[in-house]
Amino acid sequence: TSPKEVEINGKKYATDPWFNVSSTVLSLTSRKLHLQKDHPVAITRKIIESVFPPPTYKYYNEFDPVVSTYENFDSLCFPPDHPGRARSDTYYINKDTLLRTHTSAHEAELFRAGASGGYLISADVYRRDEVDRSHYPVFHQMEGARVWDRNKVPNGDLAAAIFQDLDRLPKHNMTVEDPNPPFHPDRNPLQVEHHTPEEAAAVAAHLKRSLELMVNEIFSRAKAAAAFATAANNGTSPVEPTEPLRVRWVEAYFPFTSPSWELEVFYQGDWLEVLGCGVSKQELHIIAGVPSQIGWAFGIGLERIAMLLFQIPDIRLFWSRDERFLSQFRGVEDNLARMRPFVPFSKHPACYKDVSFWLKGTSAAGGGGSGKGAVDWHGNDLMEVVRDAAGDCVEDVRLVDEFVHPKTGRRSMCYRINYRSLERTLTNAETNEMHDRVVRGLVERLGVEIR
Ligand code: PHE
Repeated sequence: TSPKEVEINGKKYATDPWFNVSSTVLSLTSRKLHLQKDHPVAITRKIIESVFPPPTYKYYNEFDPVVSTYENFDSLCFPPDHPGRARSDTYYINKDTLLRTHTSAHEAELFRAGASGGYLISADVYRRDEVDRSHYPVFHQMEGARVWDRNKVPNGDLAAAIFQDLDRLPKHNMTVEDPNPPFHPDRNPLQVEHHTPEEAAAVAAHLKRSLELMVNEIFSRAKAAAAFATAANNGTSPVEPTEPLRVRWVEAYFPFTSPSWELEVFYQGDWLEVLGCGVSKQELHIIAGVPSQIGWAFGIGLERIAMLLFQIPDIRLFWSRDERFLSQFRGVEDNLARMRPFVPFSKHPACYKDVSFWLKGTSAAGGGGSGKGAVDWHGNDLMEVVRDAAGDCVEDVRLVDEFVHPKTGRRSMCYRINYRSLERTLTNAETNEMHDRVVRGLVERLGVEIR
């Protein structure tokens, strides 16, 4: 019962059997929280933009979320069997068209434009995932990149040109740990056919300083906002944090960068992973028709950062149209000194309900293994059914029990759903109705048998 075609931001797309986008998710494609004045996601974008100023960096904030499978995966050297391509993880309109899973989907087209310099993209991205306080099927990312062109620097000396740009960047007094060698022979080799060690080192150094400056800006603002709130509570005046920020570079893997890193920040007693980045694979520049370019790229999730900046406890709040949420950020985008932590409105009661069922077919590993076909079960499909039936009234969904019947080989699961609205107390009747819809959805869409 999927629609033959869907309309997204005014354009129509034909669906096929790959189609798996719920109506809830479709309805969110027009929200564009990163462009909504004074929304915490938009404020976070502005803070990041302030570290990458024009004219060196150009901003692209209006790319459409519908992209081709080629743009999202192939153009970025994702292998054909990469798990990110699975229908259980990605929202497909049809076999060749999907809702972008990351802002990197636009790297190739921007490289093709060929300009030296840099860019920032901010956009909504889509991933099928769990239901809990830090996951939502739509979130926002920012992508940044910087490129230099061998043919446009004095004497073709790329490394020297990049180090010169690096020298113009501000210094900082953060504590930076960078314990691992930059290259790893299998995961993160030097791109020997394309880069000299000096060139790769120059790009990496420019990347690292730029991103250190970015997280320093973000976390100084988070600390200042927190200090202000503490002071207001104690009736004292805010004390500016004096301790330098601690960060560390950790080796990472992405199909489209080598070498690659994640940047972690020590904040309130924990190491937090805040972004992924690396030296762009030369294939991207070659496919884009600009083989003389070299550069770096990073990607950062905006909700996670906004949750830290404003102490926002639940990711669902970003989608709220409740004035008690929105009014707290008014006027901040144009005056970041007004940033304050979010003050949660009263917490409403939770209501837990369990649903237990048998999966259709038998487990291949189980005893039976009759001709019914093995179980093809993805937890994310259940998460979608729950989101469709109960929307933002579900705080989280957990698998609490699972077993295979020793004789029949059938698999049983029990999930616990926590119904709790951020905005009001749910009535029993309402919760029961939502839970009935969940149960019906599981039977009708996933073919399970309720126990
Ligand atoms: N697109 C990657 C992600 O979503 C992040 C990334 C961007 C990594 C650019 C390297 C370079 O996880």
